[in-house]
Amino acid sequence: MSGNLFEDTDSILSEERIFPPTSEMVAQANITAYMESKGFSDYDSFYKWSLENRFEFWDDMAKKLHWFEPWTNTFEWTNKPFFKWFTGGKLNIVYNCLDRHIQTPTRHKVAFHWEGDDGQTRSLTYEQLYILTNRFARGLQQLGVKKGDRVAIYMPAILEQIVAVLAVARLGAVHTVVFGGFAANSLRDRIIDAEAKVVITADGNYRGGKLIQLKKITDEAVLETPTIEKVLVVKHLGLDISLQEGRDVYWHDLAADIPEDTFVPCEPMDSEDLLFILYTSGSTGKPKGVVHVHGGYAVGAATTTNFVFDLKDEDIYWCTADVGWVTGHSYIIYGPLMNGATSVLFEGVPSYPNPDRWWSVIEKFKVTVLYTSPTGIRGLMRFGEEWPAKHDLSSLRLLGSVGEPINPEAWIWYRHNIGRDELPIMDTWWQTETGSILISPTIIQPLKPGSATRPLPTIEADVVDKNGQSVGLGKGGFLIVRHPWPSQMRTIYGDPARYITYWETLPDVYFAGDAATIDQEGFIRVQGRVDDVIKVSGHRLGSMEIESSLVSHPAVAEVAAIGKPDPVKGEHVKVFVILKNGFEPSPELEKELKLHVRTSVGALAVPDELEFTPSLPKTRSGKIMRRVIRAKELGEPIGDTSTLDG
Ligand code: WTA
Repeated sequence: MSGNLFEDTDSILSEERIFPPTSEMVAQANITAYMESKGFSDYDSFYKWSLENRFEFWDDMAKKLHWFEPWTNTFEWTNKPFFKWFTGGKLNIVYNCLDRHIQTPTRHKVAFHWEGDDGQTRSLTYEQLYILTNRFARGLQQLGVKKGDRVAIYMPAILEQIVAVLAVARLGAVHTVVFGGFAANSLRDRIIDAEAKVVITADGNYRGGKLIQLKKITDEAVLETPTIEKVLVVKHLGLDISLQEGRDVYWHDLAADIPEDTFVPCEPMDSEDLLFILYTSGSTGKPKGVVHVHGGYAVGAATTTNFVFDLKDEDIYWCTADVGWVTGHSYIIYGPLMNGATSVLFEGVPSYPNPDRWWSVIEKFKVTVLYTSPTGIRGLMRFGEEWPAKHDLSSLRLLGSVGEPINPEAWIWYRHNIGRDELPIMDTWWQTETGSILISPTIIQPLKPGSATRPLPTIEADVVDKNGQSVGLGKGGFLIVRHPWPSQMRTIYGDPARYITYWETLPDVYFAGDAATIDQEGFIRVQGRVDDVIKVSGHRLGSMEIESSLVSHPAVAEVAAIGKPDPVKGEHVKVFVILKNGFEPSPELEKELKLHVRTSVGALAVPDELEFTPSLPKTRSGKIMRRVIRAKELGEPIGDTSTLDG
């Protein structure tokens, strides 16, 4: 984000509107029941208590889950910053998602209603999901998957994607889900880094009516991945694909010999055993494999789903994210399943075939809780109020937002047109690294448009300067979190040094990489990244990833990629390209370079703007100054340029 982010505090300081909860919301809230059990009737005093009693709070939360063996220590931090939670405990997150519910009436409840891109639907009860997961786990065992192995999942938003994730974790293997919009190179790099043994994919899928040939892309990726032994393919569309003898197997062929009553016990995992690796972009270098574990992650995801979305037995919950991102892991799969919720899984896009697709899904399934992104809202705002107005959205009772700052205008539109001017909006701040939501209102707290409001219980967030000193109310600075929490990432896979930087950029606090302010009334507003991470439509990209893709093109000598403010996407990518001698700028070359990014990284990384330039500002040591390029581009003050060339 821009260099003068910290000065850009006008809109929050002038944002006076406050939306208090109704007494009915407060009375029925899940968090109210817990607060009362601790003797509190208001959030602020409860929150203060939680800061001083964090282990009691997390013990209480962990006790709500099923453990094969209880933990002996709630928290251990002997080898800073490699902390551990619930040590000595044994559990499996999947037991908490499925097996536990099979023993209760939840068994017959729908776990997922699925709607495909083309409008077909299919639902699975908890029992059906349990049966499928057991069979899938047996299939994976037959392919040689065992505890600790890494399995890549490159699939569309279909029910088998959920089954695949749960089956891998059931066996104690480690999943690494790769977003289905990434290109072959991106899939290949993630498989190589995780040393995955098996990749699970589908023949292909449609998104917004566009065919994506997942198996073909997988074939290309695994040409260069020495660790992949098997490719397991789910037939989704019935495309004519080729299967490589001895390596590739269709799920339905494998399943033919696996009986319905197959039972594969959940592997008892240590709290600190790996659950998944999820790759995300950093400010430098290649994407990093964020590691999460069974114990703390389960406790964090289950707790926040329960308190923030306030789920009740009769709710129909829909998170519009993709399982390929962390929001899909925590708030499509694990959090809702641990809470025994009924969810919607949607394969399509918001505007296909018409810009009321989402609203029709809400009407069809009578969705009560909707969790979506600012980009989704802004994108649909453009088409006008008449689209949501065509649908009966009266089932909704709570709204959520995630992934990027939501501007007050979009917040108000969301509340007015989707929330009939009465529904609360949970603006949830968190990251792949945090595992679950850290800053967000709950249904019992006052709201302010554009603000994630306050930290959740036990989370001590602050805004500080470059020396780690609190900047005070109304001033901009770096967002930090002062103490570890259970669902925090444990390391960066294969690169612990990169993990340590999160806790050492400023001594002993977690450095989030975001700029933020806290206003006079204590409302936090997160403004965006302070590093070279670009949030395009809420998708996290690194400047370096786009630059490395472009410099691999024969015409390109040097590149700088920056994020520019975008009225719909939040940010879009602009690249500045220096061509090699002998190449001339042309509209054809521009097209070719954009296509190059699409085929090497993925459609989500394609720059909206590309400018050919003869030179780029550099430091004396030759490093391209993205900060300066961005400031110039946005017409902002350039700041200190004393280390620049000439
Ligand atoms: C941004 C997504 C403002 C932020 C869950 C963060 C937000 C990055 C919000 C993490 C929010 C997420 N308000 N900004 N409510 N939620 N962000 O890892 O910049 O894909 O650092 O995780 O998204 O992105 P990630």
